[in-house]
Parts: sequence; structure tokens; C-alpha cells
Amino acid sequence: MRFVITAGPTREYLDAVRFLSNPSTGKMGFAVAEAAARAGHEVVLVAGPVQLKTPPKVVRIDVTSAREMMQAVKESLTPDSVLVATAAVADFRPKAQAKRKLHKTEMPRTIELTPNPDILARAKSRFKVGFAAETDDLIKSAASKCARKHLDMIVANDVTRPGAGFATDTNEATFLFPDGHEERQPLMAKKRLARKIIERISQWS
Ligand code: C5P
Repeated sequence: MRFVITAGPTREYLDAVRFLSNPSTGKMGFAVAEAAARAGHEVVLVAGPVQLKTPPKVVRIDVTSAREMMQAVKESLTPDSVLVATAAVADFRPKAQAKRKLHKTEMPRTIELTPNPDILARAKSRFKVGFAAETDDLIKSAASKCARKHLDMIVANDVTRPGAGFATDTNEATFLFPDGHEERQPLMAKKRLARKIIERISQWS
């Protein structure tokens, strides 16, 4: 099968040097890419700015902003691909982006934001997997994302739990399916969780 995987944060520049972003390291997405390639799948990894090595046999496309990520996904995704969206895409970008560095005296006190496209919601492919990092109402919020973005599976994790979420090597997740079926996974290494995700996708798609 062909996998397209998004990973890492996006950066949304306000001027040449300042940006809005988040602390995503890309670890979960790179682990999913590695697991898929090891299982013999063709893998395209669309990565935001991260400090990680490309796993063997993975084709990597580096991007910076959400719009670039969307373009790269559009170009890589075929109707028979599996899309796994682990990226922590910035939901908004500054409406105005200065090409040069703004002087302190020129800095706006209010930054007007405009919404970024939802890459996962817009994508059309054979099987779509999303991630939901939540701080409250985990299952309810993840289930509503699963429906809203027309996903075949969502990996929900409570980022307030120790060992789960950003920048850790472990994660504690629940797999949710559109029919309401839930599979709770114990705390485990992101690499192991990645293998489980690939196994699950192989069974369902
Ligand atoms: O709605 P929320 O951002 O929590 O959804 C998370 C899921 O949607 C993740 O799988 C993320 O990669 C994806 N997403 C996306 N494009 C966006 C926002 C989120 O692909 N603009």
C-alpha cells in the first residue's frame, strides 16, 4: 500500500523571522513512517520543521507552513493511498506576512489571524487516519472529529497524562472508529504504538 503521512508542527510567519507554531517534535509521525516502511509499504512523509532523521526507505518532503503541507499532501496523495495525519498543523496564520523583519517600532500590537485549511478534512483517499490531542472530554471530542473529518480511524490521546503527547517517547492512546468501536492502548513507546497503528490499518483497509 501507499502511505502519505504528515508529521511535526507547521510555522506561520508574521515577518521574515517571527512565527506562530507549537512544540510538536514529529516523533509520532516519524515512528508511523518507519513502521509503515518496515512493513513493506511505500511511504511519503510530509514533514514540518523537525530535528529528526528520515527513516530508511521513506520519501520525505519538507515543508514549513500549513499551506505548503496541504500542497505537498495534494501532490502525493493518490485515491488508493492511506493518509495518516499526525502533524500538529497551526489552525491559523497571520493575515499579513511581511517579507522582511519588522522593526520593533513597526510591530503590530494586534495580529489578525486567518484560518488555515484543514488538510485532513479536505483530503480524499482510501483510508484516513487522524490524531486528536485533547486536554478534556477526550473520547467525545475525538469522536466528533472522526465524524466531521470523515475519518476511518482516529488516535485519541489525552495530552495532560504523564508520558503522553508532545516531545515524549511514549504515548497513551485510544483508537476510535466511526461505528463507535473503541480500543484503549496502554502507555507504550511511540514506536510500538506506531506499529500497532500500521497493523490496525492493514486489517481494516
Ligand atoms: O481539529 P484538530 O486540529 O484537533 O484535528 C487534529 C487532526 O487533524 C490531526 O490528525 C491533524 O494532523 C489534522 N489536521 C490537519 N490540518 C489542519 C488541522 C488539523 O490535517 N489544519
